[in-house]
Amino acid sequence: MRLGVNIDHVATIRQARRAREPEPVTAAALAELAGADGITVHLRGDRRHIQDRDLRLLRDLVSTRLNVEMAATDEMVAIATDVKPDQVTLVPEHPDEVTTTGGLDIGQHQAVIAGVVGRLQTAGIGASLFIDAAPDQIALARATGATAVEINTGPYADARLEGRTVELARVQQAARQAHEDGLEVLGGHGLTYTNVTPVAVIPEIVELNIGHSIISRAVLVGLERAVREMIALLG
Ligand code: PXP
Repeated sequence: MRLGVNIDHVATIRQARRAREPEPVTAAALAELAGADGITVHLRGDRRHIQDRDLRLLRDLVSTRLNVEMAATDEMVAIATDVKPDQVTLVPEHPDEVTTTGGLDIGQHQAVIAGVVGRLQTAGIGASLFIDAAPDQIALARATGATAVEINTGPYADARLEGRTVELARVQQAARQAHEDGLEVLGGHGLTYTNVTPVAVIPEIVELNIGHSIISRAVLVGLERAVREMIALLG
């Protein structure tokens, strides 16, 4: 199973102070040193965390695979075809959302999505679609020409008890169907150190993109050392 580390929250901390640190590109290098198979960032229309400059630096320095999540807009396609990440994952984007709230509604936006997939592929960029674990979305995803889908594991992560079993079965079934349809199958959203294992053993899923939980843990496991280093400076 490949791990793509989503480093948006590193930029979130920087942007909270409009400061120079922490640099997402440094976080990307450390994640790669630790064995990450890829780096994922979401360039949002409102630039609330990752900035265009980050994308260019990451393109230069990421030596694994750079996956950029973005909305299917002309602005984003222009940036992607200029920066040329290894892969673009098309996601729905709503200005007032705290994070991505669900998969694409491909049926509603089929022509736009297929057009963007085609423009990305012409530029040599792999195109993946972030979709809910729903059979109709998988069939529609294939029809857009995309070669990969990322199944939204958010509902699984949010559910409790029997609900979680139901949501896990949906993800398993969607992964099987997408694989049978010839799509590369990825997964992500809401995965944590405590809920990842049942998803990680789904045989058709080849990569998981995980962000919030890894950055949250990094803050906590790194805090003790950071405080000690400051105390040492204070003398
Ligand atoms: N995959 C997609 C498409 C996402 O939008 C996100 C969040 O940016 C993730 C994966 C990572 O989700 P989380 O931060 O909850 O691990």
